[in-house]
Amino acid sequence: MSYETITVEQRDAVTLITLNRPKALNALNSKVLEELIDAFAVYQADDSQLCAVLTGSGDKAFAAGADIKEMSEKDAADFYLEDFFAPWTSEIVKKTRKPWIAAVNGFALGGGCELAMMSDFIIASENAKFGQPEVKLGVAPGMGGSQRLTKAVGKSKAMEMCLTGRMMDAEEAERSNLVARVVPHDTLLDEAMKTAAQIASMPPMAAIANKEMVNAAFETGLDQGLIIERRIFQILAASEDKKEGMAAFVEKREGKWKGR
Ligand code: HXC
Repeated sequence: MSYETITVEQRDAVTLITLNRPKALNALNSKVLEELIDAFAVYQADDSQLCAVLTGSGDKAFAAGADIKEMSEKDAADFYLEDFFAPWTSEIVKKTRKPWIAAVNGFALGGGCELAMMSDFIIASENAKFGQPEVKLGVAPGMGGSQRLTKAVGKSKAMEMCLTGRMMDAEEAERSNLVARVVPHDTLLDEAMKTAAQIASMPPMAAIANKEMVNAAFETGLDQGLIIERRIFQILAASEDKKEGMAAFVEKREGKWKGR
């Protein structure tokens, strides 16, 4: 499928998805959503692809939010009846079981910040700026910002950001555990692709399982999370790649993965 608002490229086992509306600072409209859902589904279904990176085109923005021009034409009934924003989580987050990284190259505001927070982790350029400025538009986050930001940075900072709309720079975002790592702006894509290639070199089933476990910590209580961890560990212990991984260690060689 050829896309209008994003580009997709496969580099070995890594899929690079780029939001491509630089003139609108990669604002997220319905077309972007439709195309991202398709691109993530293709990534998930393609056995040759083992990690993905999502970034923004241009030098200024990852995504400056949901498209305000599009939203300004909708009323409450449209938002409610279309269950606006629901597919971001149901189609992209829930159905993408393989790992993906957000490489945030500039503004990640509103829906842009929320989209970055849907990734497994964020690598940020030193120019990145995060914020939930919806309050200034008379609304509030609608794609998980009030929940994921609060879980990431804690109540005090999340509350301050949502109530004032102020932006957090990359250094503060790293200090506040919103991002995994900050890198020089010019090296962002290289660093993100290198990290993705490293993930793609791992036994694929183990990578998916590790993602599922960490998400369980984010989404459930401790007792339930520990059971999920133990059960997934036990399943992995029966995999061919577990045998191969341990044999490769003992024989001092690289493992050759079957993905099962
Ligand atoms: C549509 C946008 C946009 C957006 C920027 N643009 N953000 N278009 N939706 N979210 C467009 C501008 O209209 C402009 O187009 C072009 O991108 C460049 O933007 P400028 O404002 O000229 O750039 P600059 O002065 O550098 O300011 C950058 C900025 C500012 C600080 C990021 O653009 C900004 O504040 N954007 C809005 C951020 C925001 O509020 N995001 C949250 C949206 S609500 P033209 O054609 O004029 O050149 C959301 C969740 C909603 O995401 C949930 C509701 C239920």
